[in-house]
Amino acid sequence: MDSIVVVGGKKLSGKISTSGSKNAALPILFSSLLADGVHRFDNVPALRDIDSTELLLTALNCDIERDGHSMQVAVKPPIKPEASYDLVRKMRASILCLGPLLARYGEARVSLPGGCAIGSRPIDLHIDTMRRLGAEIDTEEGYVVARAGRLKGDRILFEKLTVGGTENALMAASLAKGTTVIENAAKEPEVVDLARYLKTMGAKIDGEGSSVITIDGVDELVPGRHRIVADRIEAGTLLIAGAITGGDVVVENCEPEHLRSLIEHLIACGFDVTNDETSISIAACDSWKATDISTAPYPGFPTDLQAQYMALMTQAEGTSVITEGIFENRFMHVQELVRLGADISPMSQVAVVRGDRGGLSGAPVMATDLRASASLILAGLVAKGETRVNRIYHLDRGYEHLEDKLKSLGADVLRVS
Ligand code: EPZ
Repeated sequence: MDSIVVVGGKKLSGKISTSGSKNAALPILFSSLLADGVHRFDNVPALRDIDSTELLLTALNCDIERDGHSMQVAVKPPIKPEASYDLVRKMRASILCLGPLLARYGEARVSLPGGCAIGSRPIDLHIDTMRRLGAEIDTEEGYVVARAGRLKGDRILFEKLTVGGTENALMAASLAKGTTVIENAAKEPEVVDLARYLKTMGAKIDGEGSSVITIDGVDELVPGRHRIVADRIEAGTLLIAGAITGGDVVVENCEPEHLRSLIEHLIACGFDVTNDETSISIAACDSWKATDISTAPYPGFPTDLQAQYMALMTQAEGTSVITEGIFENRFMHVQELVRLGADISPMSQVAVVRGDRGGLSGAPVMATDLRASASLILAGLVAKGETRVNRIYHLDRGYEHLEDKLKSLGADVLRVS
């Protein structure tokens, strides 16, 4: 079981490059199931979740070749269109194979994802969507069992905004008969990147990135080539790493437009943040003002940056109120930050962070989920002495060698087994 040991006190400085987006790569890799043949992807991040996706696609009879950040997926009809429990339990995003398998083969058997640390994260909206497009779906022995003739386009109104639900609907509707209109669709850049690849494969999609997406189903899609969009959450995490250490950092190969909310909040804190087309710079700053956030669907403040931003607020001047508007249990990092000396009072969906209570001091802490892991490492960058973050297999699911990237910016950080 690996841990990451951080010795705090170093100001970060320099340039660092962003990897491809985990949350774009996952649906895009599953969308390859919609078309037999060889799909080629570039800028695929080297992550455990990508490894899990590779295992699942291989179990679905695909041949995968990876070379650095390039990946080739040769798709053939699966022996069985099934995603088993032992694969799905490693990565709940495996539910994203439901839409493609149903649309392409008329059947799918996908394990229910099971619990998740940050919330119940049901998949009812995914199931309702497939039923809406004409599938018969039941749950049997912990599996979603779905059957359909050819899916039929229809109007899908999401009562609750869902990224994954929108992505499953997009993929299924691409091969359905007739037109599908998705209302209250998620606008995340990862949804837009998926739509971009589906259109490369020949799908007819309009309105991606807005709350109404129209898809005219086609009879067949063909494999293509696609470069995965930059990971805005990794870029935001690296930017906050610069901010919390009072450093001078430039995050390159990212899409600043995708981080408008974080940039505006950092500027409100008093940081000097500028950007050009593909990079964001933050200038050294010794103190910053506490500024509230409320996480919301894109383009609001990303829930996936809430934990990292909370670490920053523990060192701010004044008190900030952090509201988690997406998941019902995404404050697991709070008690671990408190172990480092932070003054945080969590209520159900709100945490009050008192910044001017003196610095943090290093201690062993435990990562509970992907973004909490990052938050604890950021806190370790400024805590006095040594912070040891345990269970960092969570981190490796969504960050490509984060410790190496931080080390290249001057952090005193080491991975120990
Ligand atoms: C995606 O998860 C991301 N994961 C998450 O990133 C991200 O936090 C989330 O979107 C919100 O932006 C991937 O893209 C692989 P949702 P997803 O469906 O699609 C509820 C990370 O750290 N809901 O938009 O699962 C759900 O419980 C991960 O990279 C239902 O009630 O999120 C949540 O409260 C964490 N029923 C809300 O909707 C459903 O059928 C938003 O979930 C589906 C979701």
